[in-house]
Amino acid sequence: MITQQNMNKPFVYTVISGKGGVGKSMASINTAAMLSKMGYKTALLDVDLGLANCATLMNEPVRATVTDWINGQCVLEELPQDASGISLVTAANEPAQANLSSELIMDALDQVVHFLKEYHDFVVIDTPAGAGEMALWALDTADIGTLILVDEPAAISDVYRLCKYVYNIDPEYRFASIINFADDEATAESTLNRFNTILSYFLQKKSHYLGFIPASKSVKDAVIQQTTLIESEAESEVLQELEFIANNLIALAANHEQSQLKPVL
Ligand SMILES: Nc1ncnc2c1ncn2[C@@H]1O[C@H](COP(=O)(O)OP(=O)(O)O)[C@@H](O)[C@H]1O
Ligand SMILES: [Mg+2]
Repeated sequence: MITQQNMNKPFVYTVISGKGGVGKSMASINTAAMLSKMGYKTALLDVDLGLANCATLMNEPVRATVTDWINGQCVLEELPQDASGISLVTAANEPAQANLSSELIMDALDQVVHFLKEYHDFVVIDTPAGAGEMALWALDTADIGTLILVDEPAAISDVYRLCKYVYNIDPEYRFASIINFADDEATAESTLNRFNTILSYFLQKKSHYLGFIPASKSVKDAVIQQTTLIESEAESEVLQELEFIANNLIALAANHEQSQLKPVL
């Protein structure tokens, strides 16, 4: 059993995909909520500037954003707000708030992550679609990039190009994958295998399996009802897969001083 005691430092993972609408925010809030339920202090930082929606997904009115802090309208300690047991921080809540220079925002976000790491076991960073500055900042900040893979050519192609770009900058970068909208474990593994065939053929790399989230009405319903899967009492199969993913994240966190990811399956 891996406990908080043998997590010698906090673990930061970012949820990323290139493509929009593949379940990044859903996976971010629900993996964070599961880690929190399992007893790990977990923070969730939403860096989708201007169109942040983690707060909406958890039906939380945003009290103060990182851009409010930059503008002197609140203090750093006011940023985290409790949402379903997670410390939620929103970077910017209105597109107009994102008009600050990206350098200023990234510098502030670095300080926010530093602050959150002081008293959390996990910091999860939800990113916007695309391979823009915020997504790259999140990858740079995180100990690992958690890819959301969906079995569609455009989604796989976006993730592949994102990984290729990152490996050009940092050949040792670590990625792990959650397969979303999968029918079952066998389908999820075959999607990851196909993705890994491309990664290893062109880049001699592999992404490790964290688990899958089934395409499910209960996931859709939780999103519509603005609640986490745990609170919505989603079907046990979905919760079991989420717990499997959380356990793999905990295993990665316990080993994260190592330079290479160990396969988790
Ligand atoms: N496993 C799933 N089963 C059913 N619907 C899902 C699943 N994952 C995501 N969705 C739906 O897909 C939509 C996009 O999810 P979201 O997390 O907002 O994507 P992203 O953050 O990548 O843009 C949501 O409306 C959600 O209901
Ligand atoms: Mg999103």
